[in-house]
Amino acid sequence: MRKLFTLAAAVLLMAACGSKQENIQTNPQTTETMDFLEMTKQRYSERSFDPSKPVEQAKLDRILEAGRLAPTAANMQPQRFYLLRSPEVLKKTEEACYSRLYGAPVAVLVCYDLDSTWHNGRETLLPDYNSGEQDCAIAATQMMYAAEEQGVHTIWIRGFDARAIQQALGLPATMIPAMILPLGYPGDKSAPAPMHFKRKPMDEFLTEL
Ligand SMILES: Cc1cc2nc3c(=O)[nH]c(=O)nc-3n(C[C@H](O)[C@H](O)[C@H](O)COP(=O)(O)O)c2cc1C
Repeated sequence: MRKLFTLAAAVLLMAACGSKQENIQTNPQTTETMDFLEMTKQRYSERSFDPSKPVEQAKLDRILEAGRLAPTAANMQPQRFYLLRSPEVLKKTEEACYSRLYGAPVAVLVCYDLDSTWHNGRETLLPDYNSGEQDCAIAATQMMYAAEEQGVHTIWIRGFDARAIQQALGLPATMIPAMILPLGYPGDKSAPAPMHFKRKPMDEFLTEL
């Protein structure tokens, strides 16, 4: 079974390599460490951005790069990023959401291209399962922490109807909006919401079988 999956992944990878791809480098020599757990405690959902303070292009580039490098099922790389930066586009997007975008000067709409996702043909519990939501969630999480690392605040937004976003931004039918990641610096009212401090104890999450 596992062999079959590996073989399928290799075939898909070889097919994908037909398109323009670069080899990414890993650096096992890296000695610099950042306390990742501390960063996860420090991050909170930003609901008061300073709209007048743009995010520097170099920081944005680093954030987007973290999303590009995310692992994806069978390395299909279906994640697609739309940069929402002009006031008109941000307004149009916010109007298509149930949630606010909280005054962020820039946001990344993370979508997956349905034609590029890994489809799990052997899944029986979840018919038509594809990896798009998971692939995008990893890309968005990596971007969230690449932002946090650089002092850029974020909030994860899924308070929208995917079709409404598609229509508002004129996206193709196979481009599925998964989440929006507003980015920016804290405004006057920036503070963690009370919900931020509420996490269930480990024994509610973890079961050893
Ligand atoms: C999948 C997902 C969807 C979310 N959608 C929204 C949203 O549409 N609007 C919003 O204000 N917050 C949204 N959030 C933020 C959560 O409310 C927030 O992460 C949670 O309350 C914990 O607070 P914290 O991020 O400050 O730790 C979303 C978070 C996740 C993970």
